[in-house]
Amino acid sequence: MADIDARVADIILRKPTMEDGAAFHDLVSECPPLDENSIYCNLLQCTDFADTCMVAEKEGRLAGLVSGYLKPREPNVYFLWQVGVHEAARGHGLALRMIQSILARDFCRGVDELQCTITRSNTASRGLFHALAEAEGAEISEHDYFTEAHFGGGGHEAEFQFRVRPLKTPKAGG
Ligand SMILES: CC(C)(COP(=O)(O)OP(=O)(O)OC[C@H]1O[C@@H](n2cnc3c(N)ncnc32)[C@H](O)[C@@H]1OP(=O)(O)O)[C@@H](O)C(=O)NCCC(=O)NCCS
Repeated sequence: MADIDARVADIILRKPTMEDGAAFHDLVSECPPLDENSIYCNLLQCTDFADTCMVAEKEGRLAGLVSGYLKPREPNVYFLWQVGVHEAARGHGLALRMIQSILARDFCRGVDELQCTITRSNTASRGLFHALAEAEGAEISEHDYFTEAHFGGGGHEAEFQFRVRPLKTPKAGG
């Protein structure tokens, strides 16, 4: 069993493992409008990037997930790639708790900024990152980033870059 970050009621928050890859992929596909990636990509997230990813497990099944990484050229920045919560588990603070639990890991001790990209239409995601900024007492800013043209003109909505900083989540190690 991977190290447990937190146990809240009957939900366990922990790093993913190789064994979670397929379920991770299934949960992403059940959380539109998240883009589905290959299972191979999810397996890499669950192994090489496990320190910056999270699964929420309830009764042996995945109820939530977060994928992300520290930016290679800006290791003080946590880039949150995807966050998804099973429809049945939404509205109880799980997404916010998963994100703050990752930021609290000792692995993220040098992180003082979170970045992500969000489409204009994803109001739940916009609400979530505004809630994170409020919880952290941080500023949130929005910038042009991936345009529709960058996606090859196939109808993918433009993605705007959000930055939340400075983060104050205390780290596990200190
Ligand atoms: C976005 C998502 C992860 C939120 O999960 P969740 O566990 O329900 O979120 P939380 O309960 O932690 O919400 C925390 C805050 O985010 C905001 N929020 C969450 N869902 C929201 C919604 N549907 N509309 C507006 N704001 C919302 C609220 O401010 C909320 O705080 P409050 O409940 O005290 O008002 C979930 O709706 C989901 O999986 N959506 C589909 C996938 C997706 O769009 N992911 C984000 C893009 S990467």
